Amino acid sequence: MTDLKPRGASLRYSHAVLALAVLHQLIGSEWMSKPWRFKEASAWQIQLYELHEWTGLAASLLLVLLIWSLWRRYGADTLARFLPWLSGVGRSALAGELRGLLGGLPRLQAPDASQTRVLAAAVEGLGVLTLLFFASTGVAMWLLEDQLELMHEIGSIHEWGALPLKLYLAGHAGMALIHEWRGEGLLRRMFRGA
Ligand code: HEM
Ligand code: HEM
Repeated sequence: MTDLKPRGASLRYSHAVLALAVLHQLIGSEWMSKPWRFKEASAWQIQLYELHEWTGLAASLLLVLLIWSLWRRYGADTLARFLPWLSGVGRSALAGELRGLLGGLPRLQAPDASQTRVLAAAVEGLGVLTLLFFASTGVAMWLLEDQLELMHEIGSIHEWGALPLKLYLAGHAGMALIHEWRGEGLLRRMFRGA
């Protein structure tokens, strides 16, 4: 299932800029003020929120571009590739890879990337779904900016995505770095298209 065809510019750039934007959202949200607390906030915290809002809207557009680029690359296989748990064939491929992964653990032997393609794509699919969740609740808040109470309620739903996003970044980016360190060249292929 390893696809060695170089990735096109729209996929590489939307992925790279989206990754930066999402890291920014995660870090900046620790210090920004929320609109329902502006009265007690400093000017700096309000500016951080405005940055979160506009970066979030840009990230939502980049996410649409990323999904469109994935669709262009994988065509009719896109859903089966990124949501393999939806079909019986996908679930058994996932179970097979997980068994291989767990089997290697006692010997501290991690499989190479080509042996966990289904698992990696399933994780990437969950990452895209998490971002769709952030983007839709974020855009809803932006549209309802003059109804603070409703915005506050959507904000507490928007927050649910924080833990899945952190787990996703740790797993997806963490594994990419480990494979890179082992010389498998995944980062180079994803970011430079080599
Ligand atoms: C894909 C885009 C976005 C991502 C990845 C994102 C990410 C985040 C994260 C990680 C948090 C902190 C959650 C926590 O620590 O509990 C947060 C909070 C928040 N975000 Fe976003 N965000 C995005 C788009 C937006 C947009 C467009 C708005 C526009 C209004 C927005 C408004 C807020 C607000 C108001 C909060 C505070 C929620 C609360 O504390 O109840 N976000 N966001
Ligand atoms: C939340 C942000 C991110 C999202 C939504 C995301 C999503 C994706 C998706 C959907 C793919 C599959 C592309 C394809 O099959 O053609 C992918 C691949 C990849 N991503 Fe990310 N990614 C994010 C952040 C990152 C970060 C921060 C890194 C840096 C370490 C990274 C490194 C990679 C690498 C190396 C690949 C290629 C994996 C392979 O060839 O098997 N990603 N990403």
